[in-house]
Amino acid sequence: MSDLVKYTRDGEILIVTIDNPPVNALSPGVPQGIAAGIDQADSDDSVKAVVVIGAGRTFIAGADINEFGKITAGEKSHDIGLNPVLEKIEKCSKPVVMAIHGTAFGGGLETAMSGHYRVAAASAQIGQPEVKLGLIPGAGGTQRLPRLAGLAKALEMCVDGAPIKAAEALETGVVDEIIMGDLLEGAIAWARDIAGVDFRRTRDRNEKLPSPADAAPLIAAARDNARKKYRNMMAPLAAIDAIEGAVTLPFEDGLAAEQKLFVDCLFSAQSKSMIHVFFGEREVAKVPGVGKDTPSLPVRSVGVVGAGTMGGGIAISFLNARVPVLLKEVDRAALDRGVAAIRKNYANSVKRGRLTEAQVDERMSLLSPTLDYNRFNEVDLAIEAVFEGMDLKKKVFGQLDRVCRPGAILATNTSTLSIDEIASATSRPESVIGAHFFSPANVMKLLEVVRGAATSKEVINTCMQLAKKIGKVAVLAGNCRGFIGNRMFGPYRREAQFLVEEGASVEAVDQALYRWGMAMGPLATGDLAGLDVGWRIRKEFAHLDKPGVRQPIAEDRLCEMGRFGQKTGSGWYRYDEARNATPDETAAALVREWAIDAGIPQREIAEDEIVDRCVYALVNEGARILEEGFALRAVDIDIAYVLGYGFPAYRGGPMWFADTVGLKHVYERVLEFEQRHGELWAPAPLLAELAAEGKTFAGFARGKTKTA
Ligand code: NAI
Repeated sequence: MSDLVKYTRDGEILIVTIDNPPVNALSPGVPQGIAAGIDQADSDDSVKAVVVIGAGRTFIAGADINEFGKITAGEKSHDIGLNPVLEKIEKCSKPVVMAIHGTAFGGGLETAMSGHYRVAAASAQIGQPEVKLGLIPGAGGTQRLPRLAGLAKALEMCVDGAPIKAAEALETGVVDEIIMGDLLEGAIAWARDIAGVDFRRTRDRNEKLPSPADAAPLIAAARDNARKKYRNMMAPLAAIDAIEGAVTLPFEDGLAAEQKLFVDCLFSAQSKSMIHVFFGEREVAKVPGVGKDTPSLPVRSVGVVGAGTMGGGIAISFLNARVPVLLKEVDRAALDRGVAAIRKNYANSVKRGRLTEAQVDERMSLLSPTLDYNRFNEVDLAIEAVFEGMDLKKKVFGQLDRVCRPGAILATNTSTLSIDEIASATSRPESVIGAHFFSPANVMKLLEVVRGAATSKEVINTCMQLAKKIGKVAVLAGNCRGFIGNRMFGPYRREAQFLVEEGASVEAVDQALYRWGMAMGPLATGDLAGLDVGWRIRKEFAHLDKPGVRQPIAEDRLCEMGRFGQKTGSGWYRYDEARNATPDETAAALVREWAIDAGIPQREIAEDEIVDRCVYALVNEGARILEEGFALRAVDIDIAYVLGYGFPAYRGGPMWFADTVGLKHVYERVLEFEQRHGELWAPAPLLAELAAEGKTFAGFARGKTKTA
């Protein structure tokens, strides 16, 4: 018996209600409570059928993810104990009807599938999302789902981890009926109907399972696909292996094989890293000193200045959240171009079936394009996204300060410029903040919020909250050059360029990092973003360069030749009309010539050196940022990199990755690079300190972001 599960009767029907708010997770006590209900049904002749339902807003939404960490830390046994409970449900002598509303994910769906029938509210969703945590279903999901939904659907659901809605669940056979009215009443009526009628256990329902020979091509295709789509990841392939067992093995053996694969995944670095990212996305919302008592200002409408690449994407993010947007440009042509780009983006969403015309019309009706600041007194938040240049930014902020009402927030999307200097152009530095979006701004999940020296807690809190409203994850950074993300990206891309100048080919550098797991190689990323962006920034900050310290030479020279990357048809690579890249022999020959002229010794460079130089350059700079207090915690850096820079979630982010490798090893490698390449590789003091003490970045806490 357990407080988390309640038992009531409606005549001959026993109702088992799971009541473990907020989402009825399968915490300790819940499976046991369900089992006790089944025992009651088995032993009480007056019970003719059982209904299992969730209290509150959902059925069982899934496992309690905290439990996984306890298992891998050795605090608990692997056997979460769900399988015996599900076997008990399945073997119950009375039919068990699972009544699903909200979400039945992971262990929730596995529990539902151990019942004899499933009814669902029309709004319910079901899924096996374990792969998103580097896991596979571990309580029969890979064995029961193919029996109910068929092999193809089970493969898709377990490999991609995407949920399906009730209507599709009905169509595929996972759900037996959709209940239109009250779910409990409907489930009880269903239970009455089938009470006393013969019923079947999911494990015995083999009619949808193809023969091993018929299954083989489907499984082989799924493997091929998963290898491409989920590069380097073990869980999607493990899920396929487990599902194959449903076709080739008796049920009990299939379950045992699934259990072994599940445990392998659970103890893998990949899963631990993905669970770190899962919790990290929540952790970054916590800002010491900014809490529940800190007011957040209402943001009912937004003004965006600049309708270029970023301004357009930022506008879409707000329109999608139904926040009215005033979009300002300098002239009619730029404004029309900006609005046309927004329209085109929405037209694509309609084409892909993501939005209806009516939804697009509603969103577009919230957009007010303008060429002046006349209505900026109406907005609660203004976001500037004009060209990257301090003089222009200051001019715009001076104007915003004059037109916006007192208390309105003035945010800049600058990638590198000082928030404090921008704020100095206003009479309200407490209302000025960085809101650094990533391109494409309506797609990328990261929002880097940058606090200036004077930014008020209310303004910080409002921006952190606002991120959630527009479907983003905010990471708070302090005001240093490049903040967290771009400050680290500098040394990372610097090393990529050095490697090419030392003899590696452009493709070898990009391929090495791509194969390692980055979404894109560093040089191709430069071509995509525009090499001129970095070039302009380097010119702006050239006065800070230390004489005698090596600087990359090739990229600026490519820019001088007008090779800005994709937008000009060439950069590190050459591009066709459709922006497909091909290696560019001209660029390769030029870079080689420049490097030799500059006296850079040429050599063959191994793939592991390419990866170590680029990744440890990230880590070493990250350590400085952490030590100097420009990031609150190591996890903030990790989340910024996973959500904003295509760092693989299964490696947990740069700081977590360094922890998994061991900081002693990372430190020694950095020292080696320092000996060979000089002071740019001086180890960050924090890296040296933690390595010497055998500690980790994850365990390091300062808990305050510096403001300048
Ligand atoms: P962009 O060149 O595509 O757009 C800038 C737009 O601002 C142009 O359409 C221009 O006409 C307009 N503009 C200039 N002065 C203006 C004024 N006084 N009033 C209204 N509009 C004005 O540039 P992009 O790429 O959108 O960059 C904008 C800002 O976002 C820069 O600060 C950049 O560093 C930052 N950023 C860019 C990212 C990227 O990937 N492109 C990523 C993150 C930040």
